[in-house]
Amino acid sequence: MMSDDIERISFSEEEIAARVRELGAQIAADYRDAQETVYCVGILKGAAVFFTDLVRAIDRPVCFDFMIVSSYGDATTTSGQVKILKDLDFSIENKHVVIVEDIIDSGTTMCYLRKMLEGRHPKSVRLCAFLSKPSRRVAPVEIDYLGYEVPDDFLIGYGLDYAEKYRNLPYIGVLKRSVYE
Ligand code: IMP
Ligand code: MG
Repeated sequence: MMSDDIERISFSEEEIAARVRELGAQIAADYRDAQETVYCVGILKGAAVFFTDLVRAIDRPVCFDFMIVSSYGDATTTSGQVKILKDLDFSIENKHVVIVEDIIDSGTTMCYLRKMLEGRHPKSVRLCAFLSKPSRRVAPVEIDYLGYEVPDDFLIGYGLDYAEKYRNLPYIGVLKRSVYE
């Protein structure tokens, strides 16, 4: 069973659901009077699970779009390059953009992505991340909506993977070291 590879559970299914409802309500409230379209942009694949829960917790009309990005080069430097494997389907000019990400680690990916999207003249860009590891940060990232700050453990589940496995775990847990050492 997948749970055999878990050291401990960080966030249960129930805790996650409650926090996602709060984030969705916060976003709905903040954009209540916005005239422009709100574009929720999910970063695949990690944010897929969080994205589908979050958008259903936002009680106002939103559009969906997705990007696939891959970080390469030295992830421990701020100059880390990010490759866009799938770009947005729609123009975001004069739209409100909410980037939805699973976890902000070094911040390299999001620092680059946010600047890139801001360059397309949207009305606004905000970031909603379910998890953040502030102790690992190399590039500065402003998170507008954050689920939880977490310590520097390797986490899996709720979209987060280790070697493409465990994304479908309904909770978030710490992977046993014996699995990857
Ligand atoms: P960053 O550019 O270092 O912030 O990279 C963030 C990306 O690294 C996330 O979108 C995840 O795909 C991945 N990542 C970072 N920490 C973890 C973790 O603990 N478990 C699984 N994936 C992680
Ligand atoms: Mg990711």
